[in-house]
Amino acid sequence: MSNSYTFQTNLLHNNHKLDPVTGAVSVPIQHASTFHQSDIDSFGKYDYARSGNPTREALEDVIAQLEEGCRGFAFSSGMAAISTAFMLLSKDDHVVITEDVYGGTFRMVSQVLVRFGISHTFVDMTDLDAVKKAIQPNTRLFYVETPSNPTLKVTDIRAICELAKDHDALTFVDNTFLTPELQKPLNLGADIVLHSATKFLSGHSDVVAGLAVVKDPELAQKLYFLQNSFGAVLGPQDAWLVLRGLKTLHVRLDHSVQSAIKLANFFNDHPLVKKVYYPGLSDHPQYDIQQSQATSAGAVLSFDLLNEDIMRTFVNNVKIPVFAVSLGAVESILSYPAKMSHAAMPENERIQRGITNSLLRLSVGLENVDDLIKDFSDALESANQIHLVQSRG
Ligand SMILES: Cc1ncc(COP(=O)(O)O)c(C=O)c1O
Repeated sequence: MSNSYTFQTNLLHNNHKLDPVTGAVSVPIQHASTFHQSDIDSFGKYDYARSGNPTREALEDVIAQLEEGCRGFAFSSGMAAISTAFMLLSKDDHVVITEDVYGGTFRMVSQVLVRFGISHTFVDMTDLDAVKKAIQPNTRLFYVETPSNPTLKVTDIRAICELAKDHDALTFVDNTFLTPELQKPLNLGADIVLHSATKFLSGHSDVVAGLAVVKDPELAQKLYFLQNSFGAVLGPQDAWLVLRGLKTLHVRLDHSVQSAIKLANFFNDHPLVKKVYYPGLSDHPQYDIQQSQATSAGAVLSFDLLNEDIMRTFVNNVKIPVFAVSLGAVESILSYPAKMSHAAMPENERIQRGITNSLLRLSVGLENVDDLIKDFSDALESANQIHLVQSRG
C-alpha cells in the first residue's frame, strides 16, 4: 500500500480513490448483509457482512495506510473499538492506564473489566517513576491517551512503549485528539492505535464511529477474530461518511490548529482565566515532548475560569460555538467536562485530576478566528460583571 506521496495526498489518492468496476470516484456503499457463494467448497472473499464488508474494508485500508500500520478495523463507535481491543486481555491481567483518560474508557476499565478479573492502576503517565511503580508482574497493557482529555497532559509515547516492551506488555494509544495527520503512535513504538472517528477523522458531527490500527500482523489476526466475535462493526453508510470526512482532514486540521494557537494565547492573557491547558504553549510542562512526537499541538484546548459563576455566565453568553459533548468538528464545540465527558467519574477523582467545576474544553472549528475571539471576548466581558459584584461582596 505504501507509495511516495505525502500524507496530504494520500488522503485523496489511495487504493480506494476509484471504484475498479465503474470508475466512480467515491467508494460504493455496499449494503448487502450476505454474499452469494458460487462454489460449495470455496467461498468468495466476502460471505457475511459482520465478517467483512467492502465499504468498511475500504475505510479499514485507508486508516491502516494513514497510521502506517498493517491492518485497520472499523467499529460502531470509539468505545466499541476500545472495548474490543481490551478483549485481547485475559482474566488476572493488569492494565496501567493514564489517570485522565476519556470518561467512557474510565468507566469501561473501572466498572466492566474488573468484573472479568482484569485489574488496573490509574497513573499520571507524565510521571515515568509513577508509571514504573504501578507495574505489576501481571501487567499486560499500558493504555495511553495523549494529549489527555480534558487537561491536555502529554505522555512520552516512546518512553511508555519501551517500558511496555521491557515488561512484555502491549501499548495502546488513543490518538483521537491528534489523528495520524499530527501524530503516528505506531511509529513511536505502540502496538495498537485507537480512535473515536466520531471526531476529527470524520469531522462533521454526523457519524459515530471507531477505528483501530495494528502494527503487527499476528496481533491484527487476533483483533480481527475479536472484531468478528464481539460484532460491534461499523455499518457501510457510516464507513462512507468517515471516508468522505477523511478527504478533508488535512485542510480542516490545518485551519483549526492555527486558530487554536491564537485562542490559547487569547485565553492565556485574559484576567478571568486561571489556567489554559494547551501543549502548544511554550510554558506547557510537556511542551518539548509534544514537539518531539507530534507535528503540532492539535485543535483542542481547555481553560479554567476564576470560578463556577463566571464559567456559567460565560457559557450563557457565547454565541458561536455549539455547547455540546464531542469535539473535532467543522463547528467549534464548547464542552463542560464535569457534566459531559467526565460525568461518569466520581467528583473527588475528577477534581483531583484538575477537572474542576469551572473548567471548559474548546474544540476549535473552521470559523474565522477573529469572530471567535470577539465572541469569547464579549462573553468574558459579561462574566466580568459577575466578577466585579463578587469582588465587591
Ligand atoms: C479521546 C476519546 N476517546 C474515545 C472516545 C469514545 O468515542 P465514541 O464516543 O466514538 O464512542 C471519545 C469520545 O468522546 C474520546 O474523546
